[in-house]
Amino acid sequence: EQIEKGGYEHFMLKEIFEQPKSVHDTMRGRLIVDEGVIKMAGIWDHVEKFKNANRIIIIACGTSWHAGLIGEYLIEEYARIPVEVEYASEFRYRNPIITDKDVVIAISQSGETADTMAALKLAKEKGAFIYGICNVVDSSIARITDAGSYTHAGPEIGVASTKAFTAQLTILSLIALKLGNHNGNLGNAEFMRLISELDAIPKKIEEVLNTTHELTQNIAKDFISATNFLYLGRGYNYPAALEGALKLKEISYIHAEGYPAAEMKHGPIALIDENMPIVIIAPKKGHYDKIVSNVQEIKARKGKIIAVVNKGDTQVSAMADYVIEIPETSECFSPIVASVPLQLLAYYIAVYRGANVDQPRNLAKSVTVE
Ligand code: G6P
Repeated sequence: EQIEKGGYEHFMLKEIFEQPKSVHDTMRGRLIVDEGVIKMAGIWDHVEKFKNANRIIIIACGTSWHAGLIGEYLIEEYARIPVEVEYASEFRYRNPIITDKDVVIAISQSGETADTMAALKLAKEKGAFIYGICNVVDSSIARITDAGSYTHAGPEIGVASTKAFTAQLTILSLIALKLGNHNGNLGNAEFMRLISELDAIPKKIEEVLNTTHELTQNIAKDFISATNFLYLGRGYNYPAALEGALKLKEISYIHAEGYPAAEMKHGPIALIDENMPIVIIAPKKGHYDKIVSNVQEIKARKGKIIAVVNKGDTQVSAMADYVIEIPETSECFSPIVASVPLQLLAYYIAVYRGANVDQPRNLAKSVTVE
């Protein structure tokens, strides 16, 4: 096992550090920047199904569901196809309306999650075209779908998903850009700009790993005794906030809640005092001014602010107790980069609390019972 961990103390840390490679591998052979194309047989062979779909329904559980939420933002923004995202366990039991004009995408690292599998079977029975985004090759979900795209993240051993999540975001970005360019909603110039940016994401993840590894350890030391955490973000980074909170609760057993920053005033703001740590994801692109006013509200209530901002940020940084800088990207790719320091922060808080990071209590890597 020590050898498999490749010198890292835990699989989770190893997998966090593998992300420049896993994101790159997920794009390899698909994103050809020189030719200005995205090649994805799974999508291309069925492009008319997507183009003519009434809507796309994304079903998933856990971290994969968070990826689905970001997929909704991506596909609606660039391909202009209506998207709904559902927990597989809710979808399968609520008598959903599904027709043969719907495309149902299941996202699953393991490809074995029982609820996702059952939801897909239901969609298939009702005539929907079913598509899989799985990491494990030849898994049950990959086998029953009509088509699909594998994430090439490699085996993920840590129960808390990290590199599978960023690989899922990579696939969803490719799908959204491909469909958008094909159906004419995303013009060639903007398509070219976005694909070159996506191509540069592995390097940006590498940079973030280098610049935030020690920093997140230092921040983690100050929160070993925390009992609650709030994670806030807007737009594409609202689901990233949900995922940041999930990582922390899964492995450190600290209660954490993710929230859209603007919804804070409808409830969570009542919880804020000098004992409440608040992680706020505030890159320059994406409702920055709105986030600034959210941060002012937190500051006025003496919350402890850990801000994830772009390099050179001044406004949010001036109010924050801790500043984590990440390189700039288009808003749609920022969750891929912003998630990395949040994974590290959760990891180190859990390690310092002596938790079993790779196998947290009560959790399973793959939930094959409902
Ligand atoms: C379990 C795992 C999570 C994962 C979820 C969905 O809860 O602990 O990390 O996100 O299942 O799994 P899947 O394999 O379908 O992505």
